[in-house]
Amino acid sequence: MLHTDEEITEPVFNQELIREIREIAERQGVLILAHNYQSPEIYQIAEKIGDSLELARAAQETDEETILFCGVDFMADTAKILNPQARVLLPDPQARCTMAHMAGEQAALELRLQYPDADVVSYVNTTTETKAVSDICCTSANAIEIVESVDVDQVIFLPDRNLAAYVSRFTKKEIIPAAGYCYVHDAITIESVNSMKRLHPEAAFVAHPECRPEIIDMADAVCSTSGMTRFCRDEPASSFIIGTEPGMLQRLRSEVVGKKFFSVAGVCAPMKQVTLEKVRTCLTTGSGEVFLKQSLMDAARAPLERMIEISKIRQSRSYTTRDEIRKGL
Ligand code: 13P
Ligand code: SF4
Repeated sequence: MLHTDEEITEPVFNQELIREIREIAERQGVLILAHNYQSPEIYQIAEKIGDSLELARAAQETDEETILFCGVDFMADTAKILNPQARVLLPDPQARCTMAHMAGEQAALELRLQYPDADVVSYVNTTTETKAVSDICCTSANAIEIVESVDVDQVIFLPDRNLAAYVSRFTKKEIIPAAGYCYVHDAITIESVNSMKRLHPEAAFVAHPECRPEIIDMADAVCSTSGMTRFCRDEPASSFIIGTEPGMLQRLRSEVVGKKFFSVAGVCAPMKQVTLEKVRTCLTTGSGEVFLKQSLMDAARAPLERMIEISKIRQSRSYTTRDEIRKGL
């Protein structure tokens, strides 16, 4: 699926509803967080827009009593685990990241039996149950640093087989991957990238690490979603083919002014389930509150906090360049 600049028309927002939501959020002291893939109208109401790591940190650090998370289930759950005092609201509880429900707790336990000396590193795109049986979590922004930080030579990495393959390029540790994948990134093909390259031969190609290995091989840089903003700003190229969900283009267009962006990925349907109307309902009725079992939350907090601590020590640029990808180790 190709998205070009020409196809994109200026969105028309319901300004009245946006004002009403901002007003209620300010009156009630609600922190509204939104993932980079959210719809343009959700960008209008968010206090902070970011990738999974940035939003997890924001949720952990806030003093507000309520966090309204415009994103998918595992992100709201992560916010609740890291800030259990806060009331966390997810405007559509059915907004479920499909990958987060693949290769989970059971896979982790079975792999642990097979590889008793290995640590379990789980991507944050997992359920709370899976985090609870993991040694440490990671996001796309810090996966390499997190794997390098564990003091064993074998790592069970789940659920994303593509992120596992990407990380294994940069470590001597043995990575034991699970079989999960993201249906949006896994569907990006060599053909779709090449046909966009034919339309825009001057453009650099930037991929998310959830893409397949053959797509990573084609990339000029591999980044977390927010890492893409930093790379496209730093890079001299003036146009970019973006190998991630097209919601990312609005963040890039607003923060990297004067450059052009084209997406080769399809839409993440769960991310788009959050609407302004659902946000208002959530704020006015308290619906969509995240409730997790206390013991499960406590078990899942340790691997998340460990990740956040390691990320502070091992600063990540959150992107790797073509040369680094080619060179690998
Ligand atoms: P980021 O942490 O890079 O935002 O990725 C989250 C995600 O779900 C990508 O599909
Ligand atoms: Fe999950 Fe893929 Fe959507 Fe990211 S893009 S939230 S991994 S389904």
